[in-house]
Amino acid sequence: MTTTADTAPLCLLADIPDGGAVEIQTLVDGENESLLVYRHGDEARAYYNVCPHAGRRLDYAPGKFLVRSGSIICAAHGATFQADSGLCLQGPCRGESLRAVPVIVTDGAVRLGARA
Ligand code: FES
Repeated sequence: MTTTADTAPLCLLADIPDGGAVEIQTLVDGENESLLVYRHGDEARAYYNVCPHAGRRLDYAPGKFLVRSGSIICAAHGATFQADSGLCLQGPCRGESLRAVPVIVTDGAVRLGARA
């Protein structure tokens, strides 16, 4: 995993509605991955677009996610995840979590990487 802010931006923070999420296709550790990138104010979180319940994508249409009141809802069977942590609070995989991908926000852009 890249750990610096020198990577190309995944997207601009302003491209994500506050409290919403977008899909970003990018390379993570050499693999082309679909990520859900969630924005909460000036912060962003990223998760693999894979539900821990049955391995399905979380979106109901390509790049369209059900995100309401700080929760991400899997379109397949309704598992509800806390958007800030990825923890499943309700549904068939309660107690499991989305797989997070570390991201940072610098200069208004979301990038892969962890805080130094
Ligand atoms: S695959 Fe997400 S709730 Fe079943």
